Amino acid sequence: MKATELLKQQHREVSRLFQAIEDTEDRAEKKSYFLQLASNLVAHDGIERKIFYPACEQELGLEELLGAALVEHGVIEFSLYQANQALGEDDFDYKVTVLKELVEHHVEEEEKEFFPKVEQALGGEMLDALGDELDEAFQEEREGDYLRPLFENLRQVLAGALKTEPVDATLDRKAVAKTKAPAKAPEKKRKSA
Ligand SMILES: [Fe+2]
Ligand SMILES: [Fe+2]
Repeated sequence: MKATELLKQQHREVSRLFQAIEDTEDRAEKKSYFLQLASNLVAHDGIERKIFYPACEQELGLEELLGAALVEHGVIEFSLYQANQALGEDDFDYKVTVLKELVEHHVEEEEKEFFPKVEQALGGEMLDALGDELDEAFQEEREGDYLRPLFENLRQVLAGALKTEPVDATLDRKAVAKTKAPAKAPEKKRKSA
């Protein structure tokens, strides 16, 4: 499936879950839908940020729409954190409403403005390959607890990072840097003749 089609499908699932939260008065049901929503949303944002957006940047450069999308992800994740903290409380409903509005705005821009540009720039074959990669990464991301990646992304956003790094990759890179000994001993200054 084309990457953009897959991402749109995930957008539809997220909006179905928002609707389900709104439609029930039962707190336990609300919680169960919210946990599904959070897991989907964190995984979706994660694969866009780590795989989809960088692929787009390679073809299009860091243009305005992509820059704005990255900033919006940080805002959405902060709002998700607020709703998560309000789970089971009276302020949960309106915090979820704020989150929903932010997500709807972001999704509309992606689907109406950004994806058409990306489809033109990447072409069918690349979009299909990217779609497979995104699908696999999404399943993997959703297996884990959503709080850890959420908190790590927020920590990086608050530290001012626009392009946040996945925590594992950061750790891996540090580990590699530690084990790598300097390739060459510092060159001694040659004596001048
Ligand atoms: Fe996005
Ligand atoms: Fe998206």
